[in-house]
Order: sequence, then C-alpha cells, then structure tokens
Amino acid sequence: RRPELVVVGSLNTDLSARVSRHPRPGETVAGSPLSMTPGGKGANQAVAAARLGARVSIIGRVGDDNHAGELLRGLRDDNVDTTHVRTTPDTSTGTAMITVSDDGENSIVVSAAANDEVSGDDVRRAVDHIGSARVVSLVPEIPVAALHTAALIAREHATRVVLNLSPVIDVDDELLRLADPLIVNEHEARQLWRGPDGAAAEASTLAREVLRLGPRSVVVTRGAHGAVIATPEATTEIPAVPTEAVDTTGAGDAFAAALCWRLVEGDTMTTSARWAAHVSALTIGHHGSQPSYPAQEALSVPGFDE
Ligand code: RIB
Ligand code: NA
Repeated sequence: RRPELVVVGSLNTDLSARVSRHPRPGETVAGSPLSMTPGGKGANQAVAAARLGARVSIIGRVGDDNHAGELLRGLRDDNVDTTHVRTTPDTSTGTAMITVSDDGENSIVVSAAANDEVSGDDVRRAVDHIGSARVVSLVPEIPVAALHTAALIAREHATRVVLNLSPVIDVDDELLRLADPLIVNEHEARQLWRGPDGAAAEASTLAREVLRLGPRSVVVTRGAHGAVIATPEATTEIPAVPTEAVDTTGAGDAFAAALCWRLVEGDTMTTSARWAAHVSALTIGHHGSQPSYPAQEALSVPGFDE
C-alpha cells in the first residue's frame, strides 16, 4: 500500500523530566522521574498523522544503538512505513533532553547524531513513495540538502509540499517557493520576516509579509490565539481551541500532521487548519508528545462549514 503522506525528518528518543521551574545557567534543580518516549519532529508528525488514519511513510536515519530498535518498533506499531529509515553505523540515534515546567513550557536540547546523516541520496531512494504520495511533509532537524531534494522530487511528481520551518533554518528560495503551506509559529515568522526593529506587526500582517517571501501559502500558528492562514487570495483567522496546557511539547508537530492529514483527504486549507488547531489543543492537555497524540476515534468534532 502506497503512502499518502511522506514525512522527511528526524527521529529522536525523548528523555524528559518535569521541573517546578527551568534551571538557570550553573544551577541544578530537582526533576521528576525520567520518562523515555519516542520523539523527533519527523517521527512525531508521522505518528500523529498515522493515528488520525493517514497512510504514512517516513524518511530518516537512526544510529546502531539500543534506542534505534525501540524507535523503529514504535513507528511500526503505529503503522508507519519505515522502509526508508536507514541505520548509520557507529553513530548514536538522535536524542532530545527535555525539561517541562509546571506551566507546561518546555526547553529542549537536541543531539541530532544520526539525523545529521540524512542525505539527498536517502531521499532519492524513496522516489516511489514521494512520487505517489499526495503530500510530502518536510521537517528540519535534518540537513537542508535532504529537504531540498525531497521538494524537487515532489515538484516533479506534483506532490504537495508542506514545510514546517521549526526551528527556522536557512533554506533557499527554490525550496521556500514550493511550500504550500509554510507553517511557522509567530516567533519563527518574525525571524523569517526580519522586519524593522521593534516592529510588532499583527499576526495577519506578519503572515502576509511571510507570504511575500515566496511560499505558495503560509500558516502562522499562535498557540493560545489560534492561527492565521495567508494565501494570495485571502487572509483567514483560525480561532483557538481553549485548553489547559499541561505539556506543549510536540503540539506544533501534531498541528502540522493533522493539517497534512486533512490536505491528503482533499479538505481546503481553512478546514484543514481548523482540524489541526483542534488536534494540537487535545495534545497539550496531556504529558509528552507522541503519548499525547489522539487516534481518530478520540476526535469529537462536528464538520466545519466554510
Ligand atoms: O517538537 C518536539 C520534538 O522536538 C521532540 O519530540 C524532540 O525530539 C524534539 O525533536
Ligand atoms: Na502533550
């Protein structure tokens, strides 16, 4: 069965502990018992979309340590196709060291390790998957050359490109122009825009400014304030779904994944973004990233009318 969605991105083991507050430099604070769960922005998106019912394949790399097997097993248990996850010898699997404070805010140190080895060649081997998919989702934390190759293959096969530039890395214009949409949060949008110092543009203005940088469409996510979509035709505000934040880790990945899932199903950008806001709000009410991702059955949303 050919995938409908191909995710090109990172796989990490997430080591996380809760703290009453984040440590300052040189300081030690006590944390909760360590939890070790599968993560990485690429794998998070793949798992989130698969749980929602999409047929998903992931392109990425793991090392040859014990964590690799765990991550691959986890992906397969969630019905993610791992044919194109390669093992890099003599290398560690990616790891994220995460602290989550009582107010739900996280701080993360990512050790990319094997993720840094993902190459254009890895992506070219998966040309059949990218070519027949409806959407390819590109996620940083892997070398930009691999993302670029994936975008060019997607263009050749008329596969839609979704680019979640989180964190913001340098990408060339050719890649940016293929993004439909480019997904960034408000902070990342400001980084990309590089507007006048101190300029505090409205989110909708910001989204239009980012659109002028070249992408076909833009989604600016705004956490508790919803999201804004900018296309050449319109600017649309997506209302937030109110939730008590327990842990926001991986909520952005869930947003992007749910958006991809609905785009695969043929929904409009507006409808897709509403689903995405709903799904990501569900995840922030629970600990962890992947452990908090809902199955489609857990969604109780009425149909959204345009
Ligand atoms: O977006 C959350 C993810 O970022 C975590 O799962 C962690 O692995 C880091 O990549
Ligand atoms: Na969560």
